[in-house]
Amino acid sequence: MKQPVAATSKDPTVVPRSVAVIMDGNGRWAQQAGFERIRGHERGTDAVRTTVTECARLGVQALTLYAFSEENWARPKREVALLMKLLQRFLVQERPTLMDNRVRLLHSGRRQRLDGKTLALLDETIATTAKNDGMLLNLAISYGGRQELVDAVQALARDVQAGRLRPDAIDAAAIAARLYQPTVPDPDLLIRTAGELRVSNFLLWQISYAEIWVTEVCWPEFGKQQLHAAFADFGRRTRKFGKVP
Ligand code: FPP
Repeated sequence: MKQPVAATSKDPTVVPRSVAVIMDGNGRWAQQAGFERIRGHERGTDAVRTTVTECARLGVQALTLYAFSEENWARPKREVALLMKLLQRFLVQERPTLMDNRVRLLHSGRRQRLDGKTLALLDETIATTAKNDGMLLNLAISYGGRQELVDAVQALARDVQAGRLRPDAIDAAAIAARLYQPTVPDPDLLIRTAGELRVSNFLLWQISYAEIWVTEVCWPEFGKQQLHAAFADFGRRTRKFGKVP
């Protein structure tokens, strides 16, 4: 595969620079297989590992995974608790894999509703991987796209109130700089599993010009084959960014 690119390409061997994934269908996969929903989330963790290591190997610069949305807090208490446990386990068990692959962990989302243990493990893994110079792995946990924009607007208002920013100096760059992870490039490719055709409050600002690729495959069954198919399809797209090519 060739170097990552963000620009127009019709080359099937091209690797997108920044990739985002809506990992959907864990529950459906489990129900179809006759398991409890949570088994789908457990199997989904294996798919996370495969996707992270394969993206890092291929030279993707940033991978953003939608692990837990603000809206997911409304799920049954037991499912939320088990999802938090899985995230905690991932943050500990995957440290060697992240280090071996030079992956640096980042977090996007609100910290307020996350429990102390999850926050501590998140912060520890972020600190442990902080010097890694490879792929950025941006985990969206307790994340909502509208909430991210609300938080950015509040940060802008505070800067204006404190006299650090003139209202007429607010432009797209000023907003982007106040998003949760301003160093993560906007996704070139947004992947969604399990067939739904919606963006579900994910990276509303950042996906303005993302190419969208949807597969019927549920997240627990997403593997290298699907990832390569998504990248190959991405390589065949003509990206116009609103212009005439
Ligand atoms: C959507 O499937 C998936 C989630 C809400 C959680 C995603 C979590 C994981 C993949 C595992 C833990 C993550 C990490 C990073 C270790 P769904 O439950 O909405 O599926 P359904 O639409 O079929 O019900």
